[in-house]
Formats: sequence, structure tokens, C-alpha cells
Amino acid sequence: MRIAHLSDLHLGPLPRPTLGALLSKRAFGYANWVRNRGRALSGSILEALVADIAAQRPDHICVTGDLINIALPGEFTAAAQFLAALGPPDKVSCVLGNHDAYVPGAAAHAAEVWAPYMSGDDGRQRFPYVRRRDRVALIGVSTAVATPPLSARGRVGATQCEALGNLLDRNDAYYKVVMIHHPPDGALASGHRALADYRRVRAVLSEGCADLVLHGHNHTATLTFLNTPRGEAPVIGVPSASSDGSHHPMAGYALIDIDTDSLTTNLTRRTLSMPDARFVTVSSIDLADHAR
Ligand SMILES: [Fe+2]
Ligand SMILES: [Fe+2]
Repeated sequence: MRIAHLSDLHLGPLPRPTLGALLSKRAFGYANWVRNRGRALSGSILEALVADIAAQRPDHICVTGDLINIALPGEFTAAAQFLAALGPPDKVSCVLGNHDAYVPGAAAHAAEVWAPYMSGDDGRQRFPYVRRRDRVALIGVSTAVATPPLSARGRVGATQCEALGNLLDRNDAYYKVVMIHHPPDGALASGHRALADYRRVRAVLSEGCADLVLHGHNHTATLTFLNTPRGEAPVIGVPSASSDGSHHPMAGYALIDIDTDSLTTNLTRRTLSMPDARFVTVSSIDLADHAR
């Protein structure tokens, strides 16, 4: 099974906000967007991204959050159109990031508008959700909580952690892929950017025997490993899929090829190459060789 993993689209351009809409944390985010992200996003990069992913013929596409910026109403619709461009809802799964929950009520709105891409096989939109494809269980976890200005923290919470533990236990025959926006690792995101309850989440993933964890949030390519009873599970972070390289590493995404018989996993990273806006392979590794 081939998975394409992308994250942190921060889709633009932003709809023009009303003054009322800016009387919140959004005022900070809007200033930040105008200063940084507004320049880092380009339609041609997104077009190249969608075309390149399609050309790689993934069986499934995982989007690990931060689709939008400051959660203005128009941003949710634009993100739904982007998801539709990637593929049909049964082939595209997404989870929420901190920017998708930028202000109170945003996460609930996102869950409604993007529900087809965030629902379980039972058709219900509720985190964590699970979708079984072939012998792979794709599990979507939300870290999205509204936070004060200048905070980019996330939290999974006790209820979701308990449900996640149950899902991981019950699906033991499946190769279990967990999608989560914040890295469940204090060394990868700390302070005002941390997953507040990463220790608990990490324990659930370890004990429940997750086979692969996909995350975003850091806008950079990372590869770490998580100890589980089955061995070392890869934890993969990807750059922002829409960056032009001016503020963060150049846009990129990952292709993960899973052999469900041998349980071997190969990671290929594709990165945007300028000036012709083409994605090229920059590395391809057998993850078993890289585990400790
Ligand atoms: Fe982000
Ligand atoms: Fe984030």
C-alpha cells in the first residue's frame, strides 16, 4: 500500500476579514500571515503538488492538519476544494491542526465542513476515527484545541486517548497508521508549540503498538522512532507542502510504501525544485535499516 503524506498547507490567499472577525486571536495571526505566509504560498506550488501526488498513484492520501491559517469562514471552503482536488473522501484522510482550531468554534466548523475526509468507516465524524484499507488501519487523532494568542499548543485529551488505546488494541492484525498534527514528542515540539499531553499520547501509541505515526506542525522533515512491543515504529514529520522556501524548508511530502506481508516500510521524500516548480525525489530509504 502506498500512502502520500502531506501537511501544513496553510492554504491562501486569505479571504478579506471583517473588523469584527479580527477582534480575537485572529488579529495576531492575520498580521503574521501578511508578513510571512502570504508570500510563502503560491497557486502554482499547489497545482504542482496535486499533479505530482496524482502521478505517484498513492492508494491513500493522509493530510495531517493546518490546512488553513486563522479560521476565517472562507478558508474552510477553500480547504474543502483543495481536499476534493486531492481525491475522493474515501481515498483522502485528514486530521485537524492548531491553525484549524485557531479560535473557539473553528474545530467544530472544520469537523462539519471537512467531515467526509475525517469520518470513520462507520460514517461518523468523531476523533479518533478509523478507516480500514486492505490490511492497513488508518487512525485519525485530533490535537486541535482553541488556545490563547501566540500559543500553538495542542491536546489530545483523556477521552480520545482512551478511545485510541482501544482502537490500537482491537486492530492488532492490521498495520496501524496514526495521523496526528503535533509530534507526540517533547523533543520535537515544546513550550508554546507543544502537544500538552504528549507523554500520555506517546504511552498509548507505544503500548497499543502503533506501526507508523505521521505528523506535521514543525514544517520540516524529521524521522524518529517509537518503541513498541513489535519493534521500532517510524514517526515521520514532513515539511509544509506549500512552502516556497523563504521562511521554512522548501515544500515537500512523503511517500510511504508498506508491505503488509513483510511489514517493511519504505520512505521516499519528494521536494519542490525551483524555478520550474517540479517535485523531485530527494531520498528513498528502507525504514527498517534506520531503526535503532
Ligand atoms: Fe503549520
Ligand atoms: Fe501546527
